[in-house]
Amino acid sequence: MTLDLNLDAPARAMTTEIVTTISELRTRVAAWRAEGARVGLVPTMGALHEGHLSLVREIGKTAQRVIVSIFVNPTQFAPHEDFDRYPRELERDRAKLGGTPASVIFAPSVGEMYPEGFATKVEVGGPSEGLETDFRPHFFAGVATVVSKLLLAAMPDAAIFGEKDYQQLLVIRRMVRDLGLPIEIAGAAILREADGLAMSSRNAYLKANERVVAGRLNVILAEAIELARDGSEIAGIESDAANGLLRAGFSSVDYVAIRDAESLKRIDRLARPARILAAAKIGNTRLIDNMAL
Ligand code: PAJ
Repeated sequence: MTLDLNLDAPARAMTTEIVTTISELRTRVAAWRAEGARVGLVPTMGALHEGHLSLVREIGKTAQRVIVSIFVNPTQFAPHEDFDRYPRELERDRAKLGGTPASVIFAPSVGEMYPEGFATKVEVGGPSEGLETDFRPHFFAGVATVVSKLLLAAMPDAAIFGEKDYQQLLVIRRMVRDLGLPIEIAGAAILREADGLAMSSRNAYLKANERVVAGRLNVILAEAIELARDGSEIAGIESDAANGLLRAGFSSVDYVAIRDAESLKRIDRLARPARILAAAKIGNTRLIDNMAL
């Protein structure tokens, strides 16, 4: 039997359908499964850019049906963070998904994801320790809780996450392994602007002069990698890079760290695959980036 699951592709390209409840989503997925389709999930918070779309295209290579979830998840923001001003542009996102393999947008309300009295938290140790957690202690429990709910709502064969949020990707892999969820977790390369700035929904906050400064982050990380390869001492490279960011115009640096690429543990020399990770602020805008060594 041959399955032509792309018969309705032109219709989908015009408007990607939006479903807002978990039960509606499950009905869709059940029908796709009955057709024999492989189902992929791309969790996002919307304000989609080419980086997000690259995840949709990547998972679309192996999944005949692709769910893009768009949910600005309140539990991963601290009270002082940008939850209220985080860009929400569902109709624009929907237009951007036209022409991608997206089959449906899952855009639940806060009440749908966190019903009255919600009292459960998924907390992952291991890779969530340090780095982002030192500055956003609430963050990974919020991410792990919402991603486990999204995975359980959709029960996809595979879900894809960007290396842009490298620590997040490791935390989700750990969680899925620990909970024994039968879902493949794929990682996708970071998409960058022409000057190397990693694409991010938060780049929209940057004023023109700040945008120029932002473009230095990836350059400084790439220079640090060269020094590490030349055998310079890790701690010295990290602090020089942090100072370089301040000189370049960043207002503050949360961390620049060279870590084991799998465990994110500290290292003092390059023996195994390593990763350089950084988080720094320009005004109120916090940017993160990372690269393989
Ligand atoms: P969000 O920041 O919208 O990112 C959604 C996905 O897109 C993440 O997997 C992220 O790593 C990926 N992504 C973002 N910018 C990218 C880029 N420049 N290149 C490649 N991939 C990129 O990450 C989240 O949302 C949330 O924490 C979420 C996982 C949805 C849970 O709420």
